[in-house]
Amino acid sequence: RHIACIFDLDGVLVDTAVYHYKAWKQLANSMGFDFTEHQNEQLKGVNRMRSLDMILQWGGVEKSAEEKDLLAARKNEWYVAMISKMTEAELLPGSLQLLRELKLKETKIALGSASKNSSLILERTGLTHFFDAIVDGNSVTTSKPDPEVFLKAAELLHARQEDCVVFEDAAAGVQAAISAGMKVVGIGTIENLPGSDLVIKNLSEITVTEIERLKGLNTDK
Ligand code: BG6
Ligand code: MG
Repeated sequence: RHIACIFDLDGVLVDTAVYHYKAWKQLANSMGFDFTEHQNEQLKGVNRMRSLDMILQWGGVEKSAEEKDLLAARKNEWYVAMISKMTEAELLPGSLQLLRELKLKETKIALGSASKNSSLILERTGLTHFFDAIVDGNSVTTSKPDPEVFLKAAELLHARQEDCVVFEDAAAGVQAAISAGMKVVGIGTIENLPGSDLVIKNLSEITVTEIERLKGLNTDK
């Protein structure tokens, strides 16, 4: 049995989490309030409309459905302006190397992201060709921590969920992976990613052999 790897995008493969934060912060500031970096952690992995709802709640602001659509569109315009200029330089440390190593070993690779902008980001950073399946915000109906995104990815890879390893930088994503019955490697800090089977700073800290060992499918030292 072979492992299959499912990667979150923002904050795992590419350094876009900071752009999301900047754009949401600008939006909150335009309405006269702010939120903390700690609060921002809770937005990671969460889809656009749900993120907006959380931010409006933090600011104690109520908006109609039409106003919310406008606000989300405005944030996305700012965000897209930032990611449109992205290059391979914004790949996070180790991501390219790990994807290459996985490809060499013919491991199945999927994207499991909440973003509706994933294709633009993958194109800008030259990653598209690595993926055997792409599941993103355009193909799921429920946001992480719901496991839908990862279950769909496993299905498209024809992989059993117990053979999948998920890479996630978001607490909501770690929860989604656990609910999907998959192993999960947290990218970040243990405090922010409880429940992860392993937490690393970035993908340069892990090899394919270590991933296989995590699954218990490879017993050699
Ligand atoms: C996730 C990010 O990957 O995608 C969230 O962690 C973001 O911060 C979500 O809100 C949706 O992204 P987008 O690009 O569709 O607004
Ligand atoms: Mg992420």
